[in-house]
Formats: sequence, C-alpha cells, structure tokens
Amino acid sequence: MSSSQPTSPKAITTMTIRARKGGDKIVTVTAYDVLFGKLVDEAGVDIVLVGDSAGNVFAGYNTTLPVTLEQMIYHGSSVVRGVSNACVVVDMPFNTYQSSSAEAIKNCGRVLQETGASAVKMEGGSARFASIVADIVDSGIPVMGHLGFTPQSINTLGGNRVQGRGEGGVQRLIDQAKRLEDAGAFSIVLELMPAEVAKSVTESVGIPTIGIGAGAGCDGQVLVLPDLLGLNEGFKPKFLKQYANLADTVRNAVKQYSDDVRGGVYPDDEHSFR
Ligand code: KIV
Repeated sequence: MSSSQPTSPKAITTMTIRARKGGDKIVTVTAYDVLFGKLVDEAGVDIVLVGDSAGNVFAGYNTTLPVTLEQMIYHGSSVVRGVSNACVVVDMPFNTYQSSSAEAIKNCGRVLQETGASAVKMEGGSARFASIVADIVDSGIPVMGHLGFTPQSINTLGGNRVQGRGEGGVQRLIDQAKRLEDAGAFSIVLELMPAEVAKSVTESVGIPTIGIGAGAGCDGQVLVLPDLLGLNEGFKPKFLKQYANLADTVRNAVKQYSDDVRGGVYPDDEHSFR
C-alpha cells in the first residue's frame, strides 16, 4: 500500500475503459476501504467503484441520501491507497452536484484532489444535468454516468423499481444515454432495467455501459462487494449472484476466537512474548 498521499492515475485509466466499448467485458466491483480495495485490485477487476452504497452496506442507512462529501472522500482515499492497477471511480453523493456547474466542479474537484481517484460517478440524464456533466468534463474531471434506477432519486421513483418498461421507456433511456455521451461521459452505469432495454441503450451509444440488474447485453458489469461476498444477508434481489458466504465465515471465526479466549486456549505460549 502506498503512503497517505493520493496517487493517480492507476494503470487502468478512464481512456482504457472508454476504449473497451464492445470488447472484453469491463469488470467492476465496489469497495469502501483499503483492505478490500487491495483484494479486489489483486483479483484483477478493471474498475473499483467507491459507491455511495456505502450509506447502505457500510453505515446501515436505508437509502444513499444521508451520505456526505466528506464521507465519500474518506472512503475514496482509503480505497485509492489499496489499489495500484484498477481505475478508481468515486460516487458523488446526493446534493453535491445537481444545483449548478460551479458547485459540481468544486465538489468533484475536491474528490479527485483529496482521494487520488481517476473519475467521479453521478446519477441523472436530463438535458439540464447533461450540461452540468459537460462543464465538469470540460474542467478536466472524467465522469461516469448512471441511468435507470438511480438510488438518489428513490423518493421520486417510488422505490427500487425496474426502469425502462412501458411506452416510451426505452427511448427515454436512449435519449438520456446519448446526452451523457455528448456531454463527454466516458461510461454509463445502467441499473435495474430489462435485459433487452439495456441492450438497446448499449447499442445506441459509443461509450461502454456497465450493468447492474440489467442483463448480459452491457459492456460490463458491476456488483456491490458485500452483496457478492454474502456479507449483506437478507438482500437477495433477482439479479444478484452470491459468490461466497463470508457472513458464516466471519461468524465462525469470531465464535472460535471467543471459545478459545473463554477456554484459556488463546493466547498460548506461541502467541506470547518472553
Ligand atoms: O453506489 C453504488 O454502489 C452504485 C452501484 C450500485 C452501481 O452506484
């Protein structure tokens, strides 16, 4: 792990990711701290996303809305210190980029400066939002977009609902994706939409799409690390494939430790100083 100073960029840059459109799938996973950042980097992922899902899986909130800029900078800089290869992208939290280009550039600039990450991610696809994205990109800050179910808008979307269904649904998403591409975004997360819809959106733009709950037609895939590892028990959406059961592993290890301490087995001579 490197020192406390932010280091950027990593071996995989936003340009590398941009050039992967239609090529090898872009593997993305979230991380929130240095140890898991290092492990997922060593596993060979392309992008480590420091998601504001930290609000859910790290802090225990029901939504991502309470997450602050300072918290994202803390998580982002922690992850960056563990990663040497993957492109690190930090989520901009709710209410830090929507009101004006000036505010967005100031806050996104702080994230890049204070974390050492390579890019920021933000949610939205309206024309007004795309003009803010264009200004951010113009100021030298790479932006990953996020369309479909956008968790920061949970109060206007009415819950974790699949998006893009119904009349005009696909076209609306295609229009939004094209706006983000025109604004200079280097990639777009597509969350919670039918596989066919995500495929159409993917085929309509020249930048990579990274799906979550969006089927196999995207250019890449992202999962929230504690979900993938089986640490977030009780969260079992249809799209999630769990690759480990770390909740049991942790409980068993700590139970064994407790038994050893209570039984006088640990600490033993091997783990004591003379
Ligand atoms: O915050 C997050 O982890 C995300 C992913 C679910 C894409 O935005």
